[in-house]
Amino acid sequence: MGAMLAATAQEQMRLGTSDPDPAAVRLRAPGVGDAAALWTLARQAGGLDVHAPYAYVLLCHAFAGTCAVAEGPEGAVGFLTAFRLPDESSCLFVWQVAVLPARRRQGWAGRMLRHVLARPGCADIRCVEATVTPGNCASRALFAGLAAELGAPLRTEEGFPRSLFPGGRHEPESRIRVGPWTPRS
Ligand SMILES: CC(C)(COP(=O)(O)OP(=O)(O)OC[C@H]1O[C@@H](n2cnc3c(N)ncnc32)[C@H](O)[C@@H]1OP(=O)(O)O)[C@@H](O)C(=O)NCCC(=O)NCCS
Repeated sequence: MGAMLAATAQEQMRLGTSDPDPAAVRLRAPGVGDAAALWTLARQAGGLDVHAPYAYVLLCHAFAGTCAVAEGPEGAVGFLTAFRLPDESSCLFVWQVAVLPARRRQGWAGRMLRHVLARPGCADIRCVEATVTPGNCASRALFAGLAAELGAPLRTEEGFPRSLFPGGRHEPESRIRVGPWTPRS
C-alpha cells in the first residue's frame, strides 16, 4: 500500500501535476553512490553534454566538496558539478547544473549554487565561472541572479567557439564570470 502511494506521488511529480513540497528536497554533497543518478539526470535534463558515467563517478569522488545533489522523495531532482580553477583556486567553475523538468523554476539550481558557496570549505571562493550556450536563458539568469544578490560584476566574453568541438554540431559556449565579490562579515 505504502509503495503504491509512493509510486502515485512519483508519477504525479514526473508529470508535473503535483505541487512538490520544497521542504522534502534536501541539498547535500554527492557521494560515488549518486554518480549513476547524476548521469541519468544529465540525460533527462536535455541541453547538456552527457559525459561518460565514469566522469560522474570521478566528480562525486574527487570534487564532492564543490558539487551538490538535490534529493527529493523521487530520488535526485537536481545536481550541480563544479571545481576550483587550478590556476585560480578562489574561482569556482560550474561544469554542469541540471534540474528535473518537473522541478524547474522553483529555485533549485540557485539553491544548489548557494549551498556549495555557503560551505565552510568554500569560504574563500570569490568568483564563479561557467560557460553557456547562446540560447540558454535559464542558465544565464541563474548567474545573473547570483551577481545581483552579491552585488558582484557579471562579465560575458567569448569562451569556446564552435570550431573547438568535433562534428560542427556543438553550439559555441560564452564564458560568464561573476565576481570577484567582497566577503560578507
Ligand atoms: C538551467 C537549469 C538548471 C535551471 O534550473 P532551475 O532550478 O529551474 O533554476 P532556478 O529555479 O534556480 O532559477 C534560476 C534563475 O533562472 C530563471 N529561469 C529559470 N528557468 C528559466 C527559463 N526557462 N527562462 C528564463 N529564465 C529562467 C529563474 O527565474 C531564476 O532567475 P531569478 O534568480 O532572477 O529569479 C534548468 O533549466 C535545467 O536543468 N536546464 C537543462 C540543463 C542545462 O541547460 N543546464 C545549464 C547548462 S550546464
